[in-house]
Amino acid sequence: MSVELSPYWQKIVANAKNPDGSARPFFSMAPMEAVTDTVFRRVIAQSAGPDVYYTEFTNASSMVHPKAKFSVQGRLAVAPGEQQPIAQLWGSRPEELAGAVKLLPKMGYQAVDLNMGCPDGTVIKNSAGSDLIRHPDRALALIEAGKQAGIPLSVKTRLGFYRAEEFREWLPILLQADIQVLTVHLRSRKEMSKAPAHYEYIDEILAMRDELAPQTLIQFNGDIADYQAGMALAKAHPGIDGLMIGRGVLENPYAFEPVVKKHSLAESISLLELQLQLFDEVNTAKMPKHFEALKRYFKIYLRGFPHAAHLRLQLMETHSTAEVREILAAEKPRVLAFDQGQA
Ligand SMILES: Cc1cc2nc3c(=O)[nH]c(=O)nc-3n(C[C@H](O)[C@H](O)[C@H](O)COP(=O)(O)O)c2cc1C
Repeated sequence: MSVELSPYWQKIVANAKNPDGSARPFFSMAPMEAVTDTVFRRVIAQSAGPDVYYTEFTNASSMVHPKAKFSVQGRLAVAPGEQQPIAQLWGSRPEELAGAVKLLPKMGYQAVDLNMGCPDGTVIKNSAGSDLIRHPDRALALIEAGKQAGIPLSVKTRLGFYRAEEFREWLPILLQADIQVLTVHLRSRKEMSKAPAHYEYIDEILAMRDELAPQTLIQFNGDIADYQAGMALAKAHPGIDGLMIGRGVLENPYAFEPVVKKHSLAESISLLELQLQLFDEVNTAKMPKHFEALKRYFKIYLRGFPHAAHLRLQLMETHSTAEVREILAAEKPRVLAFDQGQA
């Protein structure tokens, strides 16, 4: 007998509303390694947040390993007052996964997502991520293990390993495993993130869900730039429950905004300043963060003014948040003067 939708997911569905109060699919920010940590999630919450957040993927094996468990703590850190994200875990050993999920509720997590789509060679060598598409028995054993903590379990996967059309065999296996949400990144492992997402298969996947697991929510992912693009996709394909945005947020920090607004450079700079401040708060001796990882964000916030490229180049040479702040303080009047000229 199929399991019902948990109150956790029922609430997310019920709260997903258009500005006019009508129901819409829920939006989530995709799990992204070295991106969707507590710092970036809080910056996005400040600009225009989604309904659902995910952590970076975290190795179940490290979580239960006595020596490695401290090295993964930063990935699962959640700040007081922050909206609780869903923990995304990866692994290949059911007993380790069962141990790892049981730690989650103690950390405040209310839901878990299993990664069955990562194309990375190291993850595949560890028989995890998208390798599970080639090993459905292991995938099912992991799903059963992942349910042992009693918190709602979802799966994020790709259409296939070698070919997108493998979805016709692969997705029914997942749909019959009593999972709460199935997130489909509409590409094969082989396509990485290069080929266009296969929107042509959306209706077939929705029909599969309706037949095999009407209680399972389907979330689609791949090339959805922003809220508007997500809503257009949902209109074209009735039945979509959720829309997940990844790289779109790295192009536009306001990607989840329901009504597109013009944002000033002052606003974008204040988001960067918030990111620097939160980075410093989180970066402690116990849980050190890599300053270099911050550099990918400069181009998100600092664009659209004449000397933006030059300013970003200067910032790429920095080695600390203090240096970034110093350069920003010196350049800010010029940037804001351009901003006012545009107003
Ligand atoms: C920098 C980066 C890190 C990623 N890390 C993860 C991850 O930890 N877990 C995961 O399931 N997918 C990961 N992904 C894949 C995204 O979640 C998403 O499936 C992919 O980017 C396609 O969606 P998009 O076209 O909206 O970007 C990552 C993608 C990027 C760009």
